[in-house]
Amino acid sequence: MTYSEPAALRRWLASASSPAVPITVFGCGSDEAVLFRELAPRLGVVPNLTAAAVTEVNAELALGNRCISVGHKTPITNAALLALSRAGVEYISTRSIGYNHLDVPYAESVGILVENVDYSPDSVADYTLMLMLMAVRDAKSMLRRTEVHDYRLSELRGRELRDLTVGVIGTGRIGSAVMDRLRGFGSRVLAHDNFPTTPADYVPLDELLEQSDIVTLHTPLTADTHHLLDRRRIERMKPGAFVVNTGRGALLDTEALVSALQDGRLGGAALDVLEEEEGIFYADRRNEPIESKLLLRLHELPTVIISPHTAFYTDRALSDTVENSLTNCLNFERRKQQWI
Ligand code: NAI
Repeated sequence: MTYSEPAALRRWLASASSPAVPITVFGCGSDEAVLFRELAPRLGVVPNLTAAAVTEVNAELALGNRCISVGHKTPITNAALLALSRAGVEYISTRSIGYNHLDVPYAESVGILVENVDYSPDSVADYTLMLMLMAVRDAKSMLRRTEVHDYRLSELRGRELRDLTVGVIGTGRIGSAVMDRLRGFGSRVLAHDNFPTTPADYVPLDELLEQSDIVTLHTPLTADTHHLLDRRRIERMKPGAFVVNTGRGALLDTEALVSALQDGRLGGAALDVLEEEEGIFYADRRNEPIESKLLLRLHELPTVIISPHTAFYTDRALSDTVENSLTNCLNFERRKQQWI
């Protein structure tokens, strides 16, 4: 899918016929800008960096560039995709694994190929294990208490991962890396995937939900996986079980999750991604009202841990993402020159 021909790319870059490739990088954070400035010259790319997310209005910043790079933090409208196509854009590399912030079939219909980046699954897998441990050790309450100098032991005793069954839904790159880690902790691991490819104890989804003490979500968000954990499935979960979501918010029906947590049917949830996160996560909202009632209700629950779509964010993953975005564009240009 991405960066699949490094040897061919190296040969092309070394050849005299490879011109410097201009790309526009939309939604570029200051941390990413440092890396783009460092890596782009080495690869023969001229990056035009802008902090603004791509919109219908600013798409013309890409004029003269066939390739652009976009972030995952702001949804990209079809009007913006059309404007990009009119500006001559033929290729978008999104600096994310997930594609759900833009309409890929629509992009293709206006002549734009979209590809994602390929970075180590370890960043998200490590984070997922951290959230599992925080959930089963009641970390939110413990940290809140110690911050106000209440150093008593919690009334809730923690659970040990070796005593728990963990259900992993989606056993691709990240789900497999999560399973590897769980085996190290001695957990019993059950798996569910509609295309199982990795050795694991695969079971039907309902069976996984009925048997697991922790359920963790690692499928992409598509029309098929929207509310994969819906109200009916949440009701099938083992009493006292935990949900961990580092996939995408809409993989689970958050209203139904909140009901199950309020009723005490579930033991807790650790959510790095949320329905309604757009426009809230990645912004400093300390002095502004939060319009998402769901988010406010989740924050009130002592058994819910929330983080702002952070699992990917490590130095290694960011550097791999930037490098991969550049090589994606170069690969596209190389293929394009071969077609001409
Ligand atoms: P992947 O493509 O390697 O694996 C996804 C797996 O889900 C595949 O094995 C696929 O067969 C399975 N799957 C798809 N539809 C399914 C269904 N209906 N039922 C059961 N299984 C299904 O993807 P990867 O790299 O493991 O990433 C997974 C997701 O994690 C991404 O799509 C992205 O949304 C999310 N992610 C979240 C990050 C964060 O910072 N929180 C960072 C990176 C990715």
